[in-house]
Amino acid sequence: MEFSCKDFKVGKCEGEKVVDGETMPLVLEPPAPIKSDMESLLLALKNNKDWFDQMITKNSAVLLRGYDVKNAEDFNEIVETFEWEDIRYVGPAPRTHIYKRVWTANEGPLSEFIYYHHEMVLIKEYPKKVILFCEIPPPKGGETPFVPSFKVTERMVKEFPEEVKEMEEKGLKYSFTARSTQNDNSSMRGRGWEDAFGTSDRKEAEKRAKALGMDMEWLPDGGVKTILGPRNLTKVFEGRKGRKMWFNTMVGMYGKELSSAMMADGTEIPEHVVKRCEEIIEEESIQFKWEKGDVVFFDNYALLHGRRPSLPPRKVLVATCK
Ligand SMILES: [Fe+2]
Repeated sequence: MEFSCKDFKVGKCEGEKVVDGETMPLVLEPPAPIKSDMESLLLALKNNKDWFDQMITKNSAVLLRGYDVKNAEDFNEIVETFEWEDIRYVGPAPRTHIYKRVWTANEGPLSEFIYYHHEMVLIKEYPKKVILFCEIPPPKGGETPFVPSFKVTERMVKEFPEEVKEMEEKGLKYSFTARSTQNDNSSMRGRGWEDAFGTSDRKEAEKRAKALGMDMEWLPDGGVKTILGPRNLTKVFEGRKGRKMWFNTMVGMYGKELSSAMMADGTEIPEHVVKRCEEIIEEESIQFKWEKGDVVFFDNYALLHGRRPSLPPRKVLVATCK
C-alpha cells in the first residue's frame, strides 16, 4: 500500500494522536491553495478512490480540511464520488433528511453529551463508514470525539480479565424504551417507534423489528420496550489487524431511565466495571475542533464516536455507507 498521494497534502490537527503507529485522524489538505475548490477535490477523490478507502481503514479516521465545501449538495457529491452503498439509519436519534444521501446528525438538544457509540451497533447491519460534514462550526464545545475501539478492549481485558471473559461467553442483552409514537426532539433519544420503524401498524413494526433482530413489548401508555440480544461484547473485522473492537454499547445503555444493559442470561454487569470502562473510553478519546467545511470519514468498525455539549449554532450533517 502506498501511503502518500500527490493529490493531497498531509496536514496536522490539534488533538490528533498516534495510536499503534497511525495518526488519528489522518488530515488531508489541498496540495496547493488553488486546489481547494470543489472541482479539484472531487477530481482528487475520483483519482484516488481505492487509496482513500485504504487510508480510512488504516488510520480509522480521515479528515478533509481546507476545502471549499459549502453545503449539503457539495457534501453529497463527495459522498457519491465513492459509490459506496447507502445504509438507512435505524435508531433512537431524531434525524431529518436534508438532501439525497445527507441527513442531519442527531437533533437532540445541544446541551446534552451524546455518548460514545459505534453507529447502529445493535442493529444487524451497521454502516462501515460514517461521514460527517461541518457546515456551521460550534462557537464553543460541540466536538465529535472518537475512540479507537480496540484500545478499550485491550485495557478492559487487562483490568478485568474474568469479567470480560464472562461477558464474552454469555453475550449482552439490552433494552430500550421508546415512550410514545411522537418524535420528541427535546431528547436525543426522542424518536418515536412509528418513525423509527417507518410504520404506524404494530404488527408491521414487530415484523420489521424482528428483521432487525429485536423483540418488542408494548407498554400500556402507547410506548414500546425493545429488547435486543444476545449481542457480542467484541468483534473482529477483516483487514483491521485482528484488532478486537469493543463493539457494544454497555456504558451508554447501562442503568439508564429508558435503557439497560446486562449479560444475556440476565446476570447484572458489576457497576464498577461499567464505571471504569467509561473512564477508559474517555481517556482513549481523540478530540479535534470542527472547522467550517471539514469532512471527516470514520471507520465505524474501528471507532466509537460521540458529541460533546455545544453552544448554538452548530450544524453537522451525516451520511452513512455500507
Ligand atoms: Fe452517531
